[in-house]
Amino acid sequence: MRPESTAIVTGGARGIGQSICVELARRGADVVVADLNGDEMAETETLVEETGQRCVGVETDVSSADSVGSTVDWVLDEFGSIECLVNNAGIAGPTAPCEDVQPEDWEQTLAVNLKGPFQMCRAVIPQMKQASYGRIVNIASVTGKRPLPNRTPYATSKMGVIGLTRTLAAEVGGENINVNAVCPGSVEGPRIRKVFERQASETGRTYEEIRGDVERETARGELVEREDVADLVGYLCSEQSKRITGQDINVSAGKIMY
Ligand SMILES: NC(=O)c1ccc[n+]([C@@H]2O[C@H](COP(=O)([O-])OP(=O)(O)OC[C@H]3O[C@@H](n4cnc5c(N)ncnc54)[C@H](O)[C@@H]3O)[C@@H](O)[C@H]2O)c1
Repeated sequence: MRPESTAIVTGGARGIGQSICVELARRGADVVVADLNGDEMAETETLVEETGQRCVGVETDVSSADSVGSTVDWVLDEFGSIECLVNNAGIAGPTAPCEDVQPEDWEQTLAVNLKGPFQMCRAVIPQMKQASYGRIVNIASVTGKRPLPNRTPYATSKMGVIGLTRTLAAEVGGENINVNAVCPGSVEGPRIRKVFERQASETGRTYEEIRGDVERETARGELVEREDVADLVGYLCSEQSKRITGQDINVSAGKIMY
């Protein structure tokens, strides 16, 4: 991590985003948590401050251009520069066959998962160009690379995130700004446990059977921990990853290999 870096992590109030905030702080960054949920940011702030770094939560809706603009302006006033941006905020969107997906649910999923990262990037890039330095990491998904039936809005948004990553990396690489995507598989935590419980009640199978199927889909036979994702994000935000850009790297315990 560059000395005295400031990192913005969207959706950092909980889950994978929270682990990313802590990892970037351990590597020496001050962290701005940009999350919709202003009430839940205190836990991340405490965890980051325990590392000795500064942490500020700024209530932000990544789907709103105005909200994104005022957050980035505030961070630049307060911290002077933004070295790292991690676009992690995301929603699952509806689970339904394509013909039953409501257009407003489609729009909402794309607005948070794809327009959100675009808006954050366009807000931070002018300053990164001025500084001739930047590290941007977009959290996509293995579902950004392979189909997930009944999740068209989510899959489309994550495939779009990989397109955004590659195109932007080609645009700004010459200005020493790297843009990469990280593609997690199924990550251990409350979100995946709820999915397994729902599938178990829908199919009449047990929670353990459903979970076992998902584990057996991976080369290592296990789910991913949120810290596994955070470790890679930390590396991609560091100086060591200088010549890695435009990539979409899986953290999936070997669920997919492309
Ligand atoms: N959990 C998994 O198994 C998994 C797998 C692959 C990819 N991902 C991706 O990783 C990212 C984080 O997932 P998670 O499981 O930690 O999610 P989560 O639901 O636990 O946390 C998401 C965070 O984003 C925030 N958020 C939601 N909408 C927002 C908005 N409009 N503006 C700002 N913040 C907003 C929420 O308040 C929350 O704090 C997402 O992009 C998700 O698609 C997760």
